[in-house]
Amino acid sequence: MPKLKKFNVVEKTWDEFWAEFWRIRLIRGDEATAWKDQQVVEFCFEVLGLRPGMTVLDLGCGAGFQARLLAERGIEVHGIDISPPLIRYARRMAKQHRFPATFSVGDMRTFAAETPFDRVVILGMSFGFGTDAENRATLDRLFRSVKPGGKILLTGQHPYAATNHTGPEWLETDDGFLLHRGEFNPITCRLGGWWELVCPDGTNIIEGDNPEADGIRCYTPPELRGMLDQAGFVNPEFYGSWLLPPGEMQWFSSEMITVAEKPRSKGKSAHR
Ligand SMILES: C[S@@+](CC[C@H](N)C(=O)[O-])C[C@H]1O[C@@H](n2cnc3c(N)ncnc32)[C@H](O)[C@@H]1O
Repeated sequence: MPKLKKFNVVEKTWDEFWAEFWRIRLIRGDEATAWKDQQVVEFCFEVLGLRPGMTVLDLGCGAGFQARLLAERGIEVHGIDISPPLIRYARRMAKQHRFPATFSVGDMRTFAAETPFDRVVILGMSFGFGTDAENRATLDRLFRSVKPGGKILLTGQHPYAATNHTGPEWLETDDGFLLHRGEFNPITCRLGGWWELVCPDGTNIIEGDNPEADGIRCYTPPELRGMLDQAGFVNPEFYGSWLLPPGEMQWFSSEMITVAEKPRSKGKSAHR
């Protein structure tokens, strides 16, 4: 009978496994990610009307790759992320490459901006990690963090295309095979996923508890429109990809990119 290989399961913290191994080591040299980041930044310039000298808050900024591209084009960026290793890396990069961006560790569900920004962005499918109440409260915080007449851009996942992200997906790395298992729960409308690294020596590294463990809430455009309206934003627009010229979201679009404005006049939102 063939001998069954026994896997030695090792749990690493999210910061070690996901942040340091995946977001920093694997992604920093990845050409496809660098190309997409360029596209994302071009798109932001176009739909948000960015101009040098403007201030942008990048919430859930990760290792600061997009913040760097914005800063190198004259934008004053402040990045906030919940992961300390990612913020340490972003700060090191800013110092080393001398781009004018600042970074701090923070939670998009509880942060408070000292002064409002011209624009606020949440990139990389990062809107929706919290509960519905927390996500609503995040939109209130965004409203307070942007200047009157300013705009926000959110990227999340929508339920029509959530199944594109489910099932097992394997990626070969120098350290072993990285496995992602995505699951979509149609009742809660949340898309979750687990990462595992299967090493050649039989070690199986899994990620510990983390702020994304409950997955991302996939909102439909009507749901998000209602939430934006409650927070005081106007003129929501939904785009389906980062390609220019901007194209309206379709049911099969791989992305849901939402842009909305904070009105200039007080009117309806004066109480906020
Ligand atoms: C999918 S990554 C996107 C990173 C970056 N925006 C990009 O597009 O490459 C999601 C990021 O959100 C951060 N994050 C998750 N929950 C957060 C929270 N509650 N507050 C702030 N950042 C959070 C994670 O640490 C991670 O860097």
